[in-house]
Amino acid sequence: MTEKEAEIRIGELRRELEENSYRYYVENAPTISDFNFDMMMHELEDLERQWPQFDSPDSPTHKVGSDLKSEARRREFAQYPHRYPMLSLGNTYSIEEVEAFAQRADKTIGSPFSYSCELKFDGTAICLEYRKGRLYRALTRGDGTVGDDVTANVRMISNIPHTLHGDYPEDFEIRGEILMPYTAFDRLNEEREENEEAPFANPRNAASGSLKLLDPKEVAHRGLWCTLYHIPSESLDSFDTHAHALDAAASWGLPVSDERCVCDSISQIEEYIRHWDVQRKFLPYPTDGIVIKINEMRFQRELGFTAKSPRWAVAYKFQAERALTPLLSIDYQVGRTGAVTPVANLAPVQLSGTVVKRATLNNADQMTQMDIRTGDWVYVEKGGEIIPKITGIELGRRPADAVLPQFPLVCPDCGTPLVRQEDEAKYFCPNSDGCPTQIQGRILHFLSRKAMNILAGEATVAQLYNLGLVRTAADLYDLKKSDLLRLDGWKERSAERFLLSLRSSRNVPFERVLFALGIRFVGETTAKAVARHFGDIDAVAAADREALLAVPDVGEVIAQSIADYFADSRHIEEVKRLRAHGLRFSVSGDAPVSDALKGLTIVVSGNFSISREALKEIIEKNGGRNSSSVSSKTSFLLAGIKPGPEKISKCESLGIKIMDEAAFAQMLPAGQREALTPESAEDDGELTLF
Ligand code: IVH
Repeated sequence: MTEKEAEIRIGELRRELEENSYRYYVENAPTISDFNFDMMMHELEDLERQWPQFDSPDSPTHKVGSDLKSEARRREFAQYPHRYPMLSLGNTYSIEEVEAFAQRADKTIGSPFSYSCELKFDGTAICLEYRKGRLYRALTRGDGTVGDDVTANVRMISNIPHTLHGDYPEDFEIRGEILMPYTAFDRLNEEREENEEAPFANPRNAASGSLKLLDPKEVAHRGLWCTLYHIPSESLDSFDTHAHALDAAASWGLPVSDERCVCDSISQIEEYIRHWDVQRKFLPYPTDGIVIKINEMRFQRELGFTAKSPRWAVAYKFQAERALTPLLSIDYQVGRTGAVTPVANLAPVQLSGTVVKRATLNNADQMTQMDIRTGDWVYVEKGGEIIPKITGIELGRRPADAVLPQFPLVCPDCGTPLVRQEDEAKYFCPNSDGCPTQIQGRILHFLSRKAMNILAGEATVAQLYNLGLVRTAADLYDLKKSDLLRLDGWKERSAERFLLSLRSSRNVPFERVLFALGIRFVGETTAKAVARHFGDIDAVAAADREALLAVPDVGEVIAQSIADYFADSRHIEEVKRLRAHGLRFSVSGDAPVSDALKGLTIVVSGNFSISREALKEIIEKNGGRNSSSVSSKTSFLLAGIKPGPEKISKCESLGIKIMDEAAFAQMLPAGQREALTPESAEDDGELTLF
């Protein structure tokens, strides 16, 4: 490589890395795999070493990725400087480089030492500060020097203690990772897909996106989890080893991983790596490698830091599991909002224990960026995502007859020319009133479990559509038994069951009716927030952009979408018809279902088979009142697993009854009790994970 070529390549790599850093850290939507990112970074490091005349302090090789937003959006979180910089870790994919790290450390230290081997948790970094045993502040990594204050959100994470016990220091910092367990991730993405919101690429992006939500109550629903792995030695110097410091942190009640191991030799490190490369697949949360740290604090201090990372630690990263298989064809699927998504059909291939035949390609830009052709051998990765994705192409194996796919110009279903708005990644079929897939998709969404929960699936909706009986959700309520008897295989009983299910949908609370309307970007949680904020549909329909933006977590896009929906007279007409059929369009219409808890003030604490939020809803629906603190007015404390110790002792001192979930269930009428069994809770996607 000539000097000129090196200069050009360095420029290219810096641009690519900066662009991808932004997508990864700020937008939480990476478009290249971690492996490719790391490889580009290593290539740049090598080139800068070889050609030091082109090295520059601004290079991404000297910077820690930043999760801070641009100036305009900065007001969302207060920012504070880190007491000690929050650095990153040097990483490698090769055992030889781990050996080289050990040799370098050995040479500098020159006397016996040990290693602390730990899992490398794949989430987003967090720094917690405890003062006098109380959680004082939580900061994100930010740019390593300044972080976002996410304390209110972190307080919603169930395994982060608000107060410590035992012999904790007066004031200290502890760092770790906020993670999203796979089950919570799958649930969140399913919900997003149902709402045609872009799914998160992986649990790590979902974790960092969730940590930056503006409404802490929403964070509580995301099932985040925390593990802590580093106490900056400047923060406390009374421990001889890192392992002892973490043991002490665990004794104060902080969540520290049990999967740590102190190793004395490189062969023990290798054994630890081999073990976890397999066993990590059975962990409920994502990990992407192993971190090897020099265990003795005095040697850590001796080795010190480079500008970007400590010299006393290295990360060994696992290669994501991927498979190579031919791309057979591409389908273009139309969703209920008209969005067209390309889906790859693959030659079936084994990947992490399942056979993969289809993978998402997201949008036309991604296809162009990859320069993908049918016939290409493509890499598929699963890494925790529900839908596998294509992460690369093996260009060397491109067959001569590989075909450049043509993104359709017209809707594959109704033939209408597709359109793409400037700021949208997707193409849309604009024929929302005439495109059969969109019409049926909207009805299916309306009927779905989390919306109106009416007993009918795809086949029924297709028949109702094909017979010309149903075009909008309101048409469902005009159906007569004689109409239903025209459906294939339908008899008296099935028709009656369907009509009964339609009738009971009149009791569905307003927030779910609002969700059922299928307003773009208005998912279950947004619908709930909007319904509670405005109280009834007339207020929502009358709200202008400003008023909509006042709802927690409603941003520009959602506000515009709601305003657009109600600006359309066909939608107003549809709401009018649904209202005439008796559906609930106001919160006050959400009458209690029983008086079983009338007059009782209940404090809920701990973890239950369903989320606390869902439990509180049950209390209200049965006439009870929720209160957040124990007082003489409290009727009883409903205690789950790990209830707040302060609440328990206050109940004991005031002589207030403490009740468990099973006893509480007995107080409810039969129809309400089932909601509390873990099985049906899971059904509702509300299962509390930890
Ligand atoms: S120690 C001075 N230990 O991985 C840096 N980091 O890619 C101290 N990470 O920045 C970090 N698991 O966010 C450490 N067991 C572990 C870790 C870990 C995950 C994260 C952390 C770090 C990043 C580097």
